[in-house]
Amino acid sequence: MSQLSVNHLLGIKGLKREDIELIFSTADNFKEVINRPIKKVPSLRDLTIANLFFENSTRTRLSFEIAEKRLSADVVNFSASSSSVSKGETLIDTVNNILSMKVDMVVMRHPNPGAGVFLSKHIDARIINAGDGAHEHPTQALLDTYSIRERLGNVEGKKVVIVGDILHSRVALSNIYALNLLGAEVMVCGPSTLIPKFIHTLGVKVETDLRKALEWADVANMLRVQHERQDLKYFPSIREYSQMYGVDMNLLNSLDKDIVIMHPGPINRGVEITSEVADSPQSIILDQVENGVAIRMAVLYLLASKIDR
Ligand code: CP
Repeated sequence: MSQLSVNHLLGIKGLKREDIELIFSTADNFKEVINRPIKKVPSLRDLTIANLFFENSTRTRLSFEIAEKRLSADVVNFSASSSSVSKGETLIDTVNNILSMKVDMVVMRHPNPGAGVFLSKHIDARIINAGDGAHEHPTQALLDTYSIRERLGNVEGKKVVIVGDILHSRVALSNIYALNLLGAEVMVCGPSTLIPKFIHTLGVKVETDLRKALEWADVANMLRVQHERQDLKYFPSIREYSQMYGVDMNLLNSLDKDIVIMHPGPINRGVEITSEVADSPQSIILDQVENGVAIRMAVLYLLASKIDR
């Protein structure tokens, strides 16, 4: 397979295993490029890419921008807080105005689930979903599974537990789809109030006892508690959450094996994981960030190859 089966990256749902394998092998090449003294290639020098962020971001926005610049694309950045969206302009008007400036690809983060799908039906540009509400965050799942492959050699057959706020997490949903496609065993763990009722239909195990989950797992992906998406109280206090679902060195050292610790960021240090765990040799959190650039270069490159140029 030399081309993706999709024209946009709207979610992991809808991808084939071969798509992910193609993205990984392309990212392997770009990882080699970004470790050279000259980190740039001319692949996208004829394209203009707009990064539209209607929600805050540090890692995803910077990582896409670096990836685009490493591929020599022209880049424009838009953030809703400093735009005419605050004057009431609609999404479609905003994007059509940007596209009138001859933009070829759009990377968009938006608080509404399905915003990327909506855009792909109304505009003539390649769309990459950089996170749509509590729905999907496909490039995060790609860089997460790529980082597991890098640390453990393979994703197939590995036991991965996703811990925490599954209910509000686009990272969890995209990871479940990607891990399932790649043949991992997946478990979710957290307070029952933060585990959606439908989750078993996705073929994952459910565990509310963190120690049992970690004893089972090869990898623990520790999700951020998303205060901004919680309009209700889902657990009594942050202190109780961190006692029940936080990982510290005592807990890690009490397991009879070394498990891999991941976190998509931003970390609430001392809530999901302690600083010692975040900075320990078992943590691959900064590898995830580094791999994000190579993965996003791969996605941009492969989608751009489907544009008539
Ligand atoms: N992991 C992630 O999406 O982080 P940002 O919100 O900082 O982009």
